[in-house]
Amino acid sequence: MINIAVMGYGTVGSGVVEVINTNHDSINKRVGEEINIKYVLDLREFPGDPAEHLIIHDFEQIVNDPEVKIVVETMGGLEPAHTFVKRCLEAGKSVATSNKALVAKFGVELMEIAKAKNINFLFEASCGGGIPIIRPLNSSLTADEIDEITGILNGTTNYMMTKMSMEGADFDEVLKDAQAKGYAEADPTADIEGYDACRKIAILSTLAFGQFVDFEEVYTEGITKITAVDMEYAKKMGKTIKLLGTSRKVDNGFYAMVAPFLVGPESPLYSVNDVFNAIFVHGNVLGDAMFYGSGAGKLLTASAVVGDVVDAARHMHCTIMNNWSSGKLELLPTDDVEGRFFVRVKGSSQEEAKAAFGDCDVITLEAHPEEFAVVTPVMTEAVYKEKAGKLGDSILGMIRVKQ
Ligand code: HSE
Repeated sequence: MINIAVMGYGTVGSGVVEVINTNHDSINKRVGEEINIKYVLDLREFPGDPAEHLIIHDFEQIVNDPEVKIVVETMGGLEPAHTFVKRCLEAGKSVATSNKALVAKFGVELMEIAKAKNINFLFEASCGGGIPIIRPLNSSLTADEIDEITGILNGTTNYMMTKMSMEGADFDEVLKDAQAKGYAEADPTADIEGYDACRKIAILSTLAFGQFVDFEEVYTEGITKITAVDMEYAKKMGKTIKLLGTSRKVDNGFYAMVAPFLVGPESPLYSVNDVFNAIFVHGNVLGDAMFYGSGAGKLLTASAVVGDVVDAARHMHCTIMNNWSSGKLELLPTDDVEGRFFVRVKGSSQEEAKAAFGDCDVITLEAHPEEFAVVTPVMTEAVYKEKAGKLGDSILGMIRVKQ
């Protein structure tokens, strides 16, 4: 029997207990031993809950119990999650976590402790919910030089963008709906401002490029400025708007960013709707691959966490090889990144816009004759800023175009 503890009995933690209870026979068969949940740590009581008898309030009980071999961390946030996970690893207990903030900030430190102790620090559920992507990056794609990883990495915002695009729904209304469905973070600012996707692209880029990508250096823009009129323009152009996390190898280095992008049907990401996430990977010998599935929610995220528990149980005294590296990847300045820009203009003429940006495509909406939009030729972010400066306050907004 392998005893485990679950720290945090919220949406994902209660999902972990439910998955283990529901599928105990097949899980135990795959491990070759019984997985037994010995403790569930939470500040709250859960009268009448199936885990009521397992609830404890003191972390010391877990860390000091030599019978506990694997610990699940589903508390979220940095503290006390970081302190608890570190102490569990130092005590020789493998850890499976869904906490992308923890992995993005302390992954290097925690991985080094796990390696030194011959145990595992696993985080499949930290990116893409139930989609297997960490394990493929660590084991299946090791023959490739990966040069692009671009994903719809946040279920809440993809759900919102889809509803806004298809139903013309209002921002606040769809956010409430996503929160009620259990997709959003405790503080949904992390979703709508792109912080959640930023941590995820930093983790994925670290694994894809084999050098540590610091999330604090990833340019990040959320969806809060996207309006129903932007969606109308997107539709007129045969495109949609998606919040993407993207990192690429270009001639002179690597860049990474999170921002809303206009995406056309030529991209496989165009059709990824609702709470679904997808991660597009391009490798120099593989070519294109896309990993698709449910990106946020209780049981699917718990499924990924329990998959890690099974892996940890199968590798009790050896660290599974991974691409995690402490060597830091220096990202190119965002100003050097090239692309095309969709720009809404009001108060300047189309000629003035063309004089500023060069040979642009112009898009107009019958319902909004007071404004128009242009799509610029390819230019760097720095050049875009300089040219946009010529139109000053006439610019209502800008969205990058997915190349
Ligand atoms: N709030 C996150 C999302 C949860 O919406 O994708 C999964 O990481």
